[in-house]
Amino acid sequence: MRFRRLGGTAVTAAALSLLVSVPLAHPALAAPGEPGKPRYSAGAPSIGDSYFPGQGNGGFDVQHYDITFSYETAGRRIDAVTTITAVATEDLDQFDLDFRGPEITSLTVNGHQADFRRDGQELVVTPRPKLKEGKPFTVVVKYAGTPPVITDPDESIEGWVPTDDGVFVPGEPQGSTAWYPGSDHPTDKATFTFHVTVPEGITAVGNGQLLSQTTKNGRTTFVWDSTEPMATYLATMTIGNFQVTRSATPSGIPIYTAVDPQLATQSAATVARIPDIIEYFSTIFGPYPFASAGAIVDRAPNVGYALESQTKPIFSSSPSLGTMAHEIAHQWYGDSVSLSRWSDIWLNEGFATYAQWLWTEHNGGATAQQTFSSSSNYGRAATSSFWQTVTTDPGPVDMFGNVPYNRGAMTLHALRGKIGDTAFFRLLKDWATEHRYGNASTADFVRQAQEVSGMNLTNFFDVWLNQKGKPSAW
Ligand code: TRP
Ligand code: ZN
Repeated sequence: MRFRRLGGTAVTAAALSLLVSVPLAHPALAAPGEPGKPRYSAGAPSIGDSYFPGQGNGGFDVQHYDITFSYETAGRRIDAVTTITAVATEDLDQFDLDFRGPEITSLTVNGHQADFRRDGQELVVTPRPKLKEGKPFTVVVKYAGTPPVITDPDESIEGWVPTDDGVFVPGEPQGSTAWYPGSDHPTDKATFTFHVTVPEGITAVGNGQLLSQTTKNGRTTFVWDSTEPMATYLATMTIGNFQVTRSATPSGIPIYTAVDPQLATQSAATVARIPDIIEYFSTIFGPYPFASAGAIVDRAPNVGYALESQTKPIFSSSPSLGTMAHEIAHQWYGDSVSLSRWSDIWLNEGFATYAQWLWTEHNGGATAQQTFSSSSNYGRAATSSFWQTVTTDPGPVDMFGNVPYNRGAMTLHALRGKIGDTAFFRLLKDWATEHRYGNASTADFVRQAQEVSGMNLTNFFDVWLNQKGKPSAW
C-alpha cells in the first residue's frame, strides 16, 4: 500500500532514485516493445535501502497480510499460514518475499503451486501463470517450526524472543521476517489480520482490535484486526501469561493492556497514565491516528528496549513514564507517519524523544528548555564524540544510539526557537495530518517547515542535521 506524494512537490534526488530503482534495475524493460504486450521479468529483490540492503521487494505492492498460526508451548513452535494480498506493479515472472522463518511446506500464488527457493532473507517465488501489472494476486505460504531470534547490526535481538512463559516479538528494523513472509520495508505498509491459537490460559496479543477470543478443547483463538496501514516492523504477536485490562480514553478510543503478572504492581502507575498521555498528545499533535490503543508489558531482559508496535507498544520490562510517553508519541511519528529510508530514523526517534520532553514539562517536570540545555543534551562539551555523528546518517549500528534521539529532539527544540511556537506546533500537526498512514523524508520535513514558517531554513537544517560538530549559531 503506497501513499507516496509525487505531484506538485519537490521529490529529493534520493527519494527519486528510490522510486525509479526498480525499472533501472531491469534495463530490458526500457527497450521498446509491442504496445500492450506483457513483458515479464523478475521483480527487484529489494527496494535498495542502504542500511538493510535486502529489505523490501520490487514489482508489487502488498495490500493485506492475514497471519494465522497455532502455537505450542513446547519449543515455542508455530504451524502457520500467511496469506498476502498484493497488486503487481510490473508484469512478473518472478518476485521475492523477505522471510527468515521456519521451513516452508507449501506455497501457492493465486491458488497454483509455485516454485520457490530460499537464499538468506530472500524467498524467490516463480508464479505460474505469470502476473500482470495492475492485477491483484494472492500468495499463501504454509510453514512450521520455531521462528528465529534475529541479531541486529548493533547486536540487539528481535524477532521470536523466548520469555519464561512465551515469546516477546519486536520487529524493528528486521524482526518481522522471523515469523511471517512479506515485503519488509516501511515503505510498503498494509493492513493486517491475525488468527492465533494458543493453549488455554495463555494470551496472544497483537496489533489493533480484538475481534474475538474463543476457547474450544483447551485451545484459545485470538483474532486481531489492524485496520490502518502498518509498516511490517510494527507488527507483533506477543504470547504469554498476561493480566489483561480494558479501558478507554476520555474521547472513547478503546485501550487493551496486557501486563506480565510479575510486573503488574511495578508498572501499574505508568500503565494507568496511558489515557492522559494520549489526550495530551492529541491536543498538540492532532487526533490519535488509530482505532485502538494499549500496551504490552513483558519480561524479556535480553531485549532491553521498548518498541512502538502499532496501537500496542511493547515493553521488555516495567516501563518508566517517560518511555511510555515516548512509545505513545511514536504512534503519530513513526507509525502513522513513517520514514521512507532508515537513515531518516531521527524523524521517528527525534520526534518521540521531543514528545517525551514535552510530556515531562506538561506533567510538572523539567521544561523542554531545561532538558535541551542539560548535560546529556546541548550541555555536552563541544569535544564530545556525541557531536561527531551526522543526524541524518547515523549508520545501521548507531541508528538507535543517542544522536537520532537526542540531537534529533534538540533539532526540533532549536527549530521551535527559530520559527516560534505558533508555526512550530502547526508544523507538528500538519506533519501528522499531511503524511498520515504514509511515508515521508527529511527533505519533506524541511520543505514543510519552510512553508509553515515562511522562512529560509537551509542553514538551520544544515547545521543541525547534515553537519558534524556542535551547532553554535543557527
Ligand atoms: N524504536 C525503539 C524506541 O525508540 C527502539 C528500538 C527498536 C531499538 N529496535 C531497536 C533499540 C533495536 C535498540 C536496538 O522506542
Ligand atoms: Zn523511539
